[in-house]
Amino acid sequence: MKIAIMGAMPEEIAPLLEKVERYEKVEYAKNSYYLAQYRDMELVIAYSKIGKVFAALTAATMIEKFGAQQLLFSGVAGAINPDLKIGDLIVATKLCQHDLDITAFGHPYGYVPEGSVFVESDVHLRKIARRVAKEKGIVLKEGIIATGDQFVADPVRKAWIMEEFGADALEMEGASVAVVCDALEVPFFILRSISDSADMDAGFDFDTFLESSAKVSADFIMTMLDEIDGDRDQ
Ligand code: ADE
Repeated sequence: MKIAIMGAMPEEIAPLLEKVERYEKVEYAKNSYYLAQYRDMELVIAYSKIGKVFAALTAATMIEKFGAQQLLFSGVAGAINPDLKIGDLIVATKLCQHDLDITAFGHPYGYVPEGSVFVESDVHLRKIARRVAKEKGIVLKEGIIATGDQFVADPVRKAWIMEEFGADALEMEGASVAVVCDALEVPFFILRSISDSADMDAGFDFDTFLESSAKVSADFIMTMLDEIDGDRDQ
């Protein structure tokens, strides 16, 4: 089984590389891919760089060039749902692109013909995550994640995203990864730990909590890998 683990920023994959210890680095398409063995699984780990385009390129590369059969995304997000505090974990049930707009042609926000507003993540991987959370006594929220090429630090924009999509958190890569995985029929899982609340303080909070929240997410992903490996043995 070959599993892709992806982040957007170096800080989001550094804790993963620390855990796997030994890896081979392969340069491809102006990016670095880290190949490692973890238990009985082959891993391909990479950060994409920020935003939907880089994230789509990296997800597609991990699948098409490196042969990943499942993709797990680990990183940070801005909270929309007031129940989500800094360091909390949220798993995406489904994802949408909040900045996709051809409403001028009568379509809803987030929709283009032959696409869909929401892409649902893999039910089985979410079930494994719930099991891990229960075993570890970790509170794991599930909800809708909205993605856009925009760092949101604006209560008005945040409120609009919540009202339009019912989103619980927002970030800048998840939905593009979801579109790629859905098209290539690869099960995917998007996990985010909260770094800020997408409000006036978001820039400051993001800088302050990026590293610690990214580690919370990466640690959970590593525990999930143990469970995925165990799952296959049964
Ligand atoms: N990722 C983490 N916080 C974010 C924010 N406020 N906006 C967009 N992406 C984010």
